[in-house]
Amino acid sequence: MNTAEGRTVRTIAVASGKGGVGKTNITANLAIAFSKMNKKVMILDADLGLSNIDVVLNLATKYNIKHLFTGEKKLKDIIVEGPMGIKILPASSGIQELTALDEFQRLRLIEEFESYDEEVDYLLIDTSSGISPNVAFFCMAAQEILIITSPEPTAMTDAYALIKVLFTKYQEKNFKVLVNSVKDSAEATDVYKRLSTAAEQFLSISLDYIGFIPRDDFLPKAVRQQKAVLEAYPESKAAKSLTDIAEKISNDNNSSVKGTLQFFLGGLLKTKC
Ligand SMILES: Nc1ncnc2c1ncn2[C@@H]1O[C@H](COP(=O)(O)OP(=O)(O)OP(=O)(O)O)[C@@H](O)[C@H]1O
Ligand SMILES: [Mg+2]
Repeated sequence: MNTAEGRTVRTIAVASGKGGVGKTNITANLAIAFSKMNKKVMILDADLGLSNIDVVLNLATKYNIKHLFTGEKKLKDIIVEGPMGIKILPASSGIQELTALDEFQRLRLIEEFESYDEEVDYLLIDTSSGISPNVAFFCMAAQEILIITSPEPTAMTDAYALIKVLFTKYQEKNFKVLVNSVKDSAEATDVYKRLSTAAEQFLSISLDYIGFIPRDDFLPKAVRQQKAVLEAYPESKAAKSLTDIAEKISNDNNSSVKGTLQFFLGGLLKTKC
């Protein structure tokens, strides 16, 4: 995979532990926000057994990652183009065996990415809920991990559990926290503080606060229209926050970047889950 002139690919895994806290919508909208900044964006739907990004963005997908593993198709045959030229590598739905990739499937993925010659600035990885081997695998392969939580105690507990597993099992120390579905900024910082206090106290790691997205009825409204809120309701509060967050990520040059796309490929190989 090539990088756009003079730039390196940033690979960002979006993860949460708990399901339904907004990973897929955040991934889709950040992709649109980055595209609006003239960046070339690819989304990897890593919710391999229960894909969603195609539904959220109303994409017609003929093939998916399963066809890559069976050897029937190449990456370029599977990738579909979404809004604003975003490239999407769709997952499959209802395929149990993809919930934990084996060594062969990982190698296949790496092989395909290596020979993919389109330019990419951002590779966003929409992971599944839970702390499955695949979630750990994609989080560890990516350069940056964006942890999504909502103010619900179960979402916070699960976000902490995911951080704890990635730290204790893989020594990962860098996490960006995004608080979704909050009333206001004060509620978001309170959630962040509680999570980061626990991480500091029990794991001795500090978490980065990246921002918040308010609870906004325009978001589910856009979901029902199978559009990203940034496209359907660009003036909504949620869309504005998502744009701010994308800008913050893009300006975050001093982030916890572990390497370039080569690292991603290497990481895919190295990570034993
Ligand atoms: N900021 C928000 N305001 C209002 N509703 C929201 C917000 N964020 C998410 N939602 C609601 O939560 C639903 C679930 O979001 P999404 O599918 O993105 O979560 P997810 O974490 O990807 O779920 P899964 O773990 O099942 O993949 C959305 O369809 C939307 O209705
Ligand atoms: Mg999802």
